[in-house]
This record gives sequence, structure tokens and C-alpha cells, in this order.
Amino acid sequence: MKLVIPVRRAVERMRPYHPPLEGRTGKLRLDFNENALGCSPAVRRALARLTREQVAMYPEYEATRRRLARFFHVRPAELVLTNGTDDALRLVVDTFVEPRSRVLLVEPTFAMYRFYAELAGAKIAALRYDSAMQFPLQKVLRVLRARPCVFFLANPNNPTGTLLGRSELKQILEAAHNTLVVVDEAYFEFSGVTVLPWIRRFPNLVVTRTFSKAAGLAGLRVGCLFAHRALVSVLRKAHSPYSVNTAALVAAEAAVREGRFVQQYAREVVRNRQELARALAALGIKFFPSGGNFVLVDFGPRAPTVLRRLRQRGILARDRQADFGRVGLVRITVGTRAQMRRLIRALRELWKS
Ligand SMILES: Cc1ncc(COP(=O)(O)O)c(C=O)c1O
Repeated sequence: MKLVIPVRRAVERMRPYHPPLEGRTGKLRLDFNENALGCSPAVRRALARLTREQVAMYPEYEATRRRLARFFHVRPAELVLTNGTDDALRLVVDTFVEPRSRVLLVEPTFAMYRFYAELAGAKIAALRYDSAMQFPLQKVLRVLRARPCVFFLANPNNPTGTLLGRSELKQILEAAHNTLVVVDEAYFEFSGVTVLPWIRRFPNLVVTRTFSKAAGLAGLRVGCLFAHRALVSVLRKAHSPYSVNTAALVAAEAAVREGRFVQQYAREVVRNRQELARALAALGIKFFPSGGNFVLVDFGPRAPTVLRRLRQRGILARDRQADFGRVGLVRITVGTRAQMRRLIRALRELWKS
């Protein structure tokens, strides 16, 4: 059917986004890097206390913003509450990216960077992680000399797990004279590496964090964007006034109030990531070091069978073969000890047979 109103060229050019699989409830969900245990009991209690009046009212942000700013050791003027990282990415694009502006990515990476950049009609300058999942630092520094408008960088990166240290990040920021550098720290709790304190030093730095991963609030959609206060005041102008809902505010506050739950979970995941690595090595299965709550595994030509047979056992992992244009690569989320033992048992059985 011909549409009455012409669709924007940028949208017409985009490939349709295929939403991930549904029907995951009750399975061992090692496919989306979520908290595999669930949110903390304190979050559940806080949500249960939501009043009818609170639900009926438009959200009020200031108190939550102040509390979260205190938790993250920034000033309220350096923080934007967002509807997950997605909202932060879109806000950056809406504020800074004109049609045909250049956006730098190192792929494979989180798909939403390309999604929002393409939606805005940007031109993508895409570099690639190499076959050892190493970050192409020298190439990035070279491309930055041509002053792309925005550089989206996930640290650690999803799906490769690659983690850049502070010295590499400093080189990038110092080279990015006329580029806004967005460092997406969605997996910070599992990597321990952050550039958040640098927002005062680098006026072209944006840092994003999310409550979707370690804190287990993916279903509520809440995150934070941090930047120099001058940058934040510009970004706020372009932000939807009510993008974060009241349940998400209440849950985020409860999550930081009981920060111990998140810390303990992250610590357990880091231990289990090592245990999974040891088990994979013992089976002779190749994998890549990861700074996140997931491991990228190379099952070679047996990957499709492995994925199918894990699914038959109720274990979901994420097929990442298309990202690399070759068979083999599967991303597995790291969860609790019992969950990892179940996964390792299944892998042992099906790898030998
Ligand atoms: C690097 C990265 N950033 C952000 C997100 C999603 O964050 P949110 O749920 O806050 O939109 C993901 C989820 O997979 C991710 O891998």
C-alpha cells in the first residue's frame, strides 16, 4: 500500500529491527545480560508501597535526582534521569546529530548506537574489533582527527566483552577535540572501570549508566546520563519532560538505598565468570576475556546445534554469529553459581556427544 504521507528517507533506508525473542519467562535467561536473579527484595517492597495517588500523578523528579546524584558522587546539575540507556542515546542524537553528520562506532557493538544514528540520517563511520576482539585504538585516534560528531563507545563492549583501561580512554578523550564521546558504562558494576569523575575535566564527555543490568530493573527502563553541567543543560532542552515513570523512580531509589544487593550480585557474577571461563577452557571451547556479565564463546561450526540443544534444555543464550559474519559466536550471560553449574553441566553433556 502506498502511504499518504511520505516516510522520511532515513527511515526508508533502515533495515527493519527484529525484536528479540519473546516467551522467555521461566527459562534460564542467559541471552540478554539481565540480572539472572531478579531485582532486590527492597525494590519489590518499594514498588508494592506505591500509592494510588502516586500512580495518578505525573512524575516528580527533583528528589530522586538529588538522591541519585549523591549516590553517584556528582551534582544534580550533572545528571539526567533517562528511560534506560536507549533514551540517553536518543537524547544525545536528538541534541547533536544533524542529517549527514558523522557518527563513529566500533562494531560489533550495542545495536542501538547505529539504530538511533541511522534514524537521524547520520553517516556511520564504522571500525571493527579484530578477530581477537581487540579494540582498534590507533585507527580510532586517526578517525577522530577527522572530527566525527559523536563517538559511541561501550566499555566494556557488548558483545565482545572488550574492556578499555583508563589510559586508552584518556588518549581517546584527548584526541576527540570536536567529538562528543559517549562512554556507555552499562556493565560498570562488573568491570570496575569508570570515567564518570572525568565529566568535569572533559566537556565533550557523556557517561551513561543503567539500572537494567546489575540492579535487575530492565523491565522498568531507568538509567542515568552524566556530563558537564553545561552539556546537561543543553541536553535537558531536548529531553521529553516525562520520559521516566514513577515506578522506575521508586525502584531506582530503592536499588541505590540497598546498594549492597547489587554489589554482592556483581561480585558473585565476576566469580562465576571465572568459573565459566575455567569450565570452557577445560572443554577446549574458545572464548574471549570479558569485563561484563557475559562471555562471548566461539563454538565453531557446532554453534547452531549448541544453541538448539541448550534451548531444548530451557537455557537461552544469544546467537551473535551474524555480527561477525561467520558461524560460531554465542554470547552467554553469567548468572548465579547454581545457574552456571546448570549451564556447564549441559555444555559438558552436549559438547561430548
Ligand atoms: C552496552 C549496552 N548499553 C546499554 C544497554 C541497554 O541498556 P538499557 O536497558 O538501559 O536501555 C545494553 C543492553 O544490552 C548494552 O549492552
